[in-house]
Amino acid sequence: MGISGEVAARTITLGLAAVTLTLLSPSAWSNSEGDALYALRRSLSDPKNVLLSWDPTLVNPCTWFHITCNQENRVTRLDLGNSNLSGHLVPDLGKLEHLQYLELYKNNIQGTIPTELGNLKNLISLDLYNNNFSGPIPSSLGKMKSLVFLRLNGNKLSGRIPRELSGVSTLKVVDVSNNDLCGTFPTSGSFEHIPLNNFENNPRLEGPELLGLASYDTNC
Ligand SMILES: *[C@@H]1O[C@H](CO)[C@@H](O)[C@H](O)[C@H]1NC(C)=O
Ligand SMILES: *[C@@H]1O[C@H](CO)[C@@H](O)[C@H](O)[C@H]1NC(C)=O
Repeated sequence: MGISGEVAARTITLGLAAVTLTLLSPSAWSNSEGDALYALRRSLSDPKNVLLSWDPTLVNPCTWFHITCNQENRVTRLDLGNSNLSGHLVPDLGKLEHLQYLELYKNNIQGTIPTELGNLKNLISLDLYNNNFSGPIPSSLGKMKSLVFLRLNGNKLSGRIPRELSGVSTLKVVDVSNNDLCGTFPTSGSFEHIPLNNFENNPRLEGPELLGLASYDTNC
């Protein structure tokens, strides 16, 4: 092989290496996390412009305000409590697979809680309290493996409390007070130590599940 042939071969090798690096680099994943968050931005109304720094043309969302990433540039926190947001959540949030804290309390977000949030295997805290969410608590939340705090109080959630939740062994705090839930609530598993107050002000909620006795959830 002549000198020019060798140069050409090296150039091709370098080119392939660059393509491979681009495909494997963390920023390639983080972009999809940026896309998921940008979908959320588009679906919210933001009168205080707290989402102004959410620029989808940046290589990842880690420099955006209210976002925290780990050392691999994967999103671990979304902190948007008390931000005057309204609008809806998006199913794309279920793609933030390293997310640990989803803090959206004290806004005016409406619509349903996306089923896809159940895919967040690393989520520690799901704080959606004091919003305007309606529809059911998704039973998919029972798939979570790390959840400790589930605060859904102060919304318009309806339907039964999914029994799947009592199998989330990490759960320590559940608050579903001030909603429109019905039926009975679980008393076993992770629900064993949840105080009664955390179920109050659900006019159609009948009380604790009495294992072994008849007629559950007659009011649902
Ligand atoms: C934020 O919401 C509060 C109460 O909901 C309201 O009084 C205030 O004007 C809002 N601020 C902005 C900037 O929209
Ligand atoms: C709450 O959401 C409902 C729709 O589910 C809407 O009609 C209502 O205006 C919202 N309430 C507030 C205070 O924005």
